[in-house]
Amino acid sequence: MGKALDGVRILDFTHVQSGPTCTQLLAWFGADVIKVERAGAGDITREQLRDIPDVDSLYFTMLNHNKRSVTIDTKNPEGKQVLEALIQKCDVLVENFAPGALDRMGFTWARIQELNPRMIVASVKGFGPGPYEDCKVYENVAQCAGGAASTTGFDDGPPVVTGAQIGDSGTGLHLALGIVTALYQRTQTGRGQRVLAAMQDGVLNLCRVKLRDQQRLERTGVMKEYPQYPNGKFGEAVPRAGNASGGGQPGWILKCKGWETDPNAYIYFITQAPVWAKICNVIGKEEWATDPDYATPAARLPRLKDIFAEVERWTMTKTKFEAMQILNKYDIPCGPILSMKEIAEEPSLRKTGTIVEVDHPTRGKYLTVGNPIKLSDSPTEVKRSPLLGEHTDEVMAELGYSPEQISALRTAGAI
Ligand code: COA
Repeated sequence: MGKALDGVRILDFTHVQSGPTCTQLLAWFGADVIKVERAGAGDITREQLRDIPDVDSLYFTMLNHNKRSVTIDTKNPEGKQVLEALIQKCDVLVENFAPGALDRMGFTWARIQELNPRMIVASVKGFGPGPYEDCKVYENVAQCAGGAASTTGFDDGPPVVTGAQIGDSGTGLHLALGIVTALYQRTQTGRGQRVLAAMQDGVLNLCRVKLRDQQRLERTGVMKEYPQYPNGKFGEAVPRAGNASGGGQPGWILKCKGWETDPNAYIYFITQAPVWAKICNVIGKEEWATDPDYATPAARLPRLKDIFAEVERWTMTKTKFEAMQILNKYDIPCGPILSMKEIAEEPSLRKTGTIVEVDHPTRGKYLTVGNPIKLSDSPTEVKRSPLLGEHTDEVMAELGYSPEQISALRTAGAI
């Protein structure tokens, strides 16, 4: 069976995390992704956080599956010519260099259009146009500037960044959507265009509900589903909400049996309104189902702290999995706090290809996260990441270079 993006050629100029997550997704959907790296060095993540000496790190391998790697020195005049040939052959150039780096290499939008008017140029940058547009940005900078950090954590503590890489991988996802959309529009117009996903914008998009809450707070001065109500004070800006659900159905993280020694013996518990009576039954507080102080969502809001304390008395008598099993019987929404160890060992995730074991020639077997997006007619087969420059000769030959020319370019340090 063919793949959704068969025939699409991506010139992958990405490095670190944000860009590589984007091009990895496109590769999983069938695009031919040609990753351009500097000879001798390559993507800096190849050597970052290494767990095995001289072997591509998990950081690199887990973000660069299904790609080909070519080495080109794009500052060398002959290397530039090779890059020009690639620009003419490819459909999309994806990059996440610091602002201005592509222009400094000589590949401005105007020059790229001259070489290939159908080329789509897709970029991740830290910020869009404005005061910070020239800044270099990493994950946590974006989380801070996009509104995630100020709204994450507990009210009595400092801002907190999340483990989910919403700045890097989140923006990579946004960019991938921009690219396939531009490819679709190109089928009508025949022209390429520029696609920009700024990390601040990507994070803010994922924090959309917090801008909703900012406006609610300004209008009413209070947000009744937040833990600050009625026990604390609201200021001018959306506060950190601890583990509150952020939606219309209040939730919190509660201790389960074993919490004293297991840092993940917790469950997320949602007091969903339609199953309130069942919740009351399960935790042994049947009277709450009809008590006017507890029977309606509005009546419960000022009492959430006490309600969750009571529910926790029950969850502490069960392991998180026992609690999950019981609550699911009654359709009560809840979720165990799973450790990475538990997730890595979860058979159902292996079965769906969400967790995949990959074999690598120098690293051996390792686990990775497969494609989280499943297409019924374009299944993903996760292939190992390329070694540095593994496909240089192959790609050069496809561009029409002879073995002698390739060897001369190598001697000249262009590839
Ligand atoms: N041949 C020759 N030179 C190359 C090359 C190649 N194949 N590939 C890259 N380079 C050069 C670039 O041209 C640039 O040179 P210049 O600064 O002289 O113009 C240089 O390598 C370094 O690029 P840069 O992007 O500045 O790398 P950095 O390590 O200093 O910064 C980031 C890293 C991530 C901070 C920065 O790239 C950035 O802000 N990117 C945009 C936001 C982003 O994606 N951040 C998240 C990353 S997960």
